[in-house]
Amino acid sequence: MTLPKKVKIVEVGPRDGLQNEQQPICTDVKIELIHRLADAGLSYIEAGSFVNPKWVPQMAGSDEVFQGIERTNSVTYAALTPNFQGFERAVAAHASEVAIFAAASESFSQKNINCSIDESLDRFTPIMEAAKAADLPVRGYISCVVGCPYEGEVDPNKVAEVAVRLHDMGCYEVSLGDTTGVGTPGSITRVIETVADSISIHRLAVHLHDTYGQALANIYASLQMGIDVVDSSVAGLGGCPYVKGNGAKGASGNVATEDLVYMLNGLGIEHGVDLDKLIEAGRFITEQLGRENGSKVSKALVK
Ligand code: HMG
Ligand code: MG
Repeated sequence: MTLPKKVKIVEVGPRDGLQNEQQPICTDVKIELIHRLADAGLSYIEAGSFVNPKWVPQMAGSDEVFQGIERTNSVTYAALTPNFQGFERAVAAHASEVAIFAAASESFSQKNINCSIDESLDRFTPIMEAAKAADLPVRGYISCVVGCPYEGEVDPNKVAEVAVRLHDMGCYEVSLGDTTGVGTPGSITRVIETVADSISIHRLAVHLHDTYGQALANIYASLQMGIDVVDSSVAGLGGCPYVKGNGAKGASGNVATEDLVYMLNGLGIEHGVDLDKLIEAGRFITEQLGRENGSKVSKALVK
C-alpha cells in the first residue's frame, strides 16, 4: 500500500461551509475566517461563490469578501462560478482562480443550476475560453458521484463521462463530489477506479460530505488509490442547499478539515497546516454562528 507523501487540502469552508447558513453572517466575519484559515497554513481557500444571489443569498456578498481580504502570496483564493456572469464577477473581484460545477445526475443539475448537464457544459465553454485568455486556472466539480437525492444510485460511467468533458475543456483538476455523503470506501473506490481509467489520478480530487459518517474512511480509501488533493471544511460546516427530496434530509457538511489534518498527521503525510491555529479558526466561526463544532478532533482537544 502506498500513500501520497503530501496532500493538498482545498479548504471549502467559507463557500461550501457558509452557503447553507440561513442566518445573516456579516462580511467582516467571513473575512476574518479566511484570514485565520490562511494563517493556519491553508494554501487553497474557496473564499466565495458568484452564483445568482436569489438562489444562494448567503453568497451574495462574495464581491465584498474578495475585496476585503488581505491576501497572502502563497494562498489561492478561489471562487465558484456557475455561468459567464459569475465568471465576470469573479474576475472583477480578483479571484485567483475559479471553479465550475456540473453534476452526474440530470435531476440534481436541474435543481442546482437550472439546466441539464449538457447545457451546463455548454455554459462553461465561454468561461473556459475567457479564463484561458486571462491565464486563470479553472477547477471542475462533479456533484452526486455516488448517489443523487432525486435519482438514487449514480453510474460511475456517467461520472467518468462528465469528468472527461470537464478535463477536456481545460479544467486542471476535477473534484469528485459525494454531495449527499452516501458513499462508502466500496463505492468511492469504484467511482475513482472508473474515472481514473480515463483521467490521471493526479488530476482528481475528492470532495466528501460526511452525512453518513463515511468521509474519513472514504478519504483514506482515496489516498490508497493515489488521490492527493482533498477538499474539506473547517469545523465540518456546510452542505448544498439543493439536496432535498426522496427522504434526503439535506447534505451535512464536508469532512472537517481539523479531522482530516489529524488523520494526515497520524499517517505522516505532509499538508502544511498548523492544527492548533486551525482549531482556533473552527472555534471562531462556530461561536460566531452559534453552532455545534462538527470536528471531533476539535471537541476532543477542548482546552
Ligand atoms: P437562472 O435563474 O436560471 O439564471 O439561474 P438566468 O440566466 O435565467 O438569470 C436569472 C437572473 O439571475 C437574472 O437577473 C440574472 O442577471 C441573474 P434578472 O434579469 O432576473 O434580474 N443571474 C446572476 N446574478 C448574479 N450572478 C450570477 C448570475 N447568474 C444569473 N452568476 C444559475 C442559473 C446557474 C445562475 C443559478 O441556478 C445558480 O446560481 N445556481 C447556483 C446554486 C448553488 O450555488 N448551489 C450550491 C453550490 S454547488 C455545491 O454546493 C456542490 C459542490 O460543493 C460539490 C458537491 O458537494 O457535490 C460544488
Ligand atoms: Mg459540496
